[in-house]
This record gives sequence, structure tokens and C-alpha cells, in this order.
Amino acid sequence: MRYQPLPASFYQKTRANFMAQMEGNSLAVFNSNDIYPVSADSTLPFEQHRDIFYLSGVDQEESILVLFPNAVEAKHREVLFLRETNEHIAVWEGAKLTKAQATALTGIKTVYWLSDFKRVFQELATHCDTFYFNTNEHYRQAVETETREDRFIAACKKEYPAHRVAKSNPILQQLRSVKAQEEIAQIQMACDITEKGFRRLLSFVKPGVWEYEIEAELAHEFIRHRSKGFAYTPIIAAGNNANVLHYTENNCQCKAGDLLLMDVAAEYGNYASDLTRTIPVSGTFTPRQRAVYEAILRVKKAATKLLVPGTLWKEYHVEVGRIMTSELLGLGLLDKVDVKNEDPQSPAYKRYFMHGTSHHMGLDTHDYGLLHLPMEANMVFTVEPGIYIPEEGFGVRLEDDVVVQAQGEPLNLMDNIPIEVEEIEDLMNA
Ligand code: GLY
Ligand code: MN
Ligand code: MN
Repeated sequence: MRYQPLPASFYQKTRANFMAQMEGNSLAVFNSNDIYPVSADSTLPFEQHRDIFYLSGVDQEESILVLFPNAVEAKHREVLFLRETNEHIAVWEGAKLTKAQATALTGIKTVYWLSDFKRVFQELATHCDTFYFNTNEHYRQAVETETREDRFIAACKKEYPAHRVAKSNPILQQLRSVKAQEEIAQIQMACDITEKGFRRLLSFVKPGVWEYEIEAELAHEFIRHRSKGFAYTPIIAAGNNANVLHYTENNCQCKAGDLLLMDVAAEYGNYASDLTRTIPVSGTFTPRQRAVYEAILRVKKAATKLLVPGTLWKEYHVEVGRIMTSELLGLGLLDKVDVKNEDPQSPAYKRYFMHGTSHHMGLDTHDYGLLHLPMEANMVFTVEPGIYIPEEGFGVRLEDDVVVQAQGEPLNLMDNIPIEVEEIEDLMNA
């Protein structure tokens, strides 16, 4: 494997935690993602569904995990179904998991080939009353394609119309939002790879360089450190491109005097990191760019301090809005009348800072987490304030990933990634 997998003991814990929350005489099913088609016979690279990965460590297509805490036979409490490998597949696609390898990876003793699924599942279904299905309830989800999980749920409901159904997703949203130390170590690894990429750029970026050349440098550095690559589509935005929040074309030339906003980070072992840095293409900030940059840095530092156990995500955003408002007044972007007359539903600061400050981060870049629940130790959040000023031709965002601590300030997993003005300028001009 390109990455070092977590030990089977981690996955034994995640499954035990999940099963402890299942009710009644029930079983839960988790499917791999499809390999998504392009056209003709081309496909996108496989990306495992993060839930089956979280519960098993299996990073292979067409896998199915069944959890049945009250199974009649103890061997069926945890069952994994895998695509059977053969000589043809070995020659054309390479090695797939054997049953013994799957047991070593996951800690699951009972591994069947997929060809046995119908028969075994029918037996398990007759012994339970409720199926836990895994629907996507992420607060940002907007999926139009039918997933492998969706197809399974539809087929299962048709085949077993008398079973009750229950939801896995709220359990996973809660479990996955609080990270184990093993997971924090994987995220730290992703952050450290991101750091290497960013440091490489500081000596690469010069007037005349193209945004896609920067993307290529990062991809090179990430992959050579055992990452699959970017954790999400990279945003490399010079000048006014930074004011298009989801700019991903990365096809413009960086000019002397531009600021360059880069929302770019590596994944490692399917764990994301999520970084934004904004640097001066010429290696030195203008006084105005520096003033805006330092305002954002102050907001980021103040916001980070609020990420402690008990904080409510909504109230946190209101408080960060207040801090941002005060900075925008200082920069002359808002005046007192704007603030006095603002609509509390759409405060004045939103004109320059229109996105959220933080989201959960982990196996998904915008990770699971129930936003109405108070923050807890070992939740990982981004902190990413920004100010976007199209009329001045630049935008600034800074983003780090931090772990909420039981006591004291959050642990910044990106503490080693240069962010202070002098540090950035010194490294760019070295
Ligand atoms: N890179 C996506 C985000 O910052 O949320
Ligand atoms: Mn980001
Ligand atoms: Mn982010």
C-alpha cells in the first residue's frame, strides 16, 4: 500500500462503538463506492466510501460490510464480503485482498467472497427485524447520482419489504466527528506533506509563473511523499481570481504585484488536510495587502481560541463575525453606518467574508459532525477567515486545521507551515 494503514485494533474499536448504538434486533450494511465511469471504458480513480473505510480499513471496490451484534452465530457479528480475486484480475488489475489479508487488515474473522452475499445475507435477514441503512445526511450534500449504497438500499427494501429500517448516518456523523489519536496522526501526516508542498512553492513562485505550474509542483511533492495527491480540487488563484471562491481552473499567469491565494492540501491514507495560504507573487506584500493580511491573521488567531469544548458552532460564527466586523472597520471597508444599519440575518461583514469560518475535517475534507452539538475534545476543525476585495484586485484567506483540546487552546496541526508576513517574505526572498 502507498500509505501505512491504521492497525486492525482501530477498526475493531470503530465497529464496537457503532454497534453499541444499534437498537433492537438489527443489522447494518455498508457498501463501497462505485468506480465512476467517464465514457467508453474510462473511469475515474477509485475513491473508497469513507464510512466502510472508517469501520474496516478496506480500500477496495465492491466490498460490503455487515454488522449484526445479535447474530445467531457469533461468527456473523461482523462479516466482510470481498470481490473474489483470480488469476485474470491479478494480471490485469493487480493484487486484491485475500481473505487472510482482509482479516489482518480489519480484524474481521469472517470474510466471504461477494458471490456468497445473496445466500449469506438472506440467512442473516431472516434472523433480524431491522436494517440500518447508510444514507447521506451531510449538511452540505447535494448528490444527484445514485450510489452503490442507494442501489443496495432500493434492492433490499424490495426483497425484504417487511423489515423495519433505521439510519446509520447520525451514528456515524457523531462517531466520526470525534477523532481517535490514530486518526489525528494520519491527519498530521497529511498536514506535514502539505507543508512540504507549500515550502517548495515559496521558492518557486515568481512573476510570470502560471497557476497550473504551481499545481504541478504541489502534485509532485505530495505524491512523492506517499499521498494520492490533492485532498480536494486545488484553488490556485492569482489577483482577482481569489475573489471567485470556488475558482479551480488554475489557468492564469501570476503577475508582479498580485497576491496569490492557494487553497491546496494533500490527503494521506484517505485522511484530508485543508490549507489556505496567500502569498505575494513578487515576494513582498504592499502596505495595503499587508494590512488586510494581518487583519485576517488576527481574526484566525482569535477564532482559533474559541474552538474549545462546549462551544456551539452557530454562536462561534456570530462571535467571529463580530471580530471580523471590527477588522473591516479598521481597514476602512465598512463604516459605522453600515454596521448600525445591518440586517442581523445578513450582517454587513458578509459583503467581504461570505463563507463559514470552520468546518469539521477528517476522512472527508468537509467532514461529518452534527453542528447543533457542542464542540468536544478531539474534534478537528478548520479555521479559515477571508476578506475578498474585487475592487482592489485581491482576496486573502488563511486556513489551518486544529484539534479541540480537553483543556487549553486547540492544537494547530499546521503550526509548522509558514504564515507570519516576515516568515513568508524571508523564505520567498532567500
Ligand atoms: N478547501 C475547501 C475548504 O476550505 O473548505
Ligand atoms: Mn480549504
Ligand atoms: Mn476548509
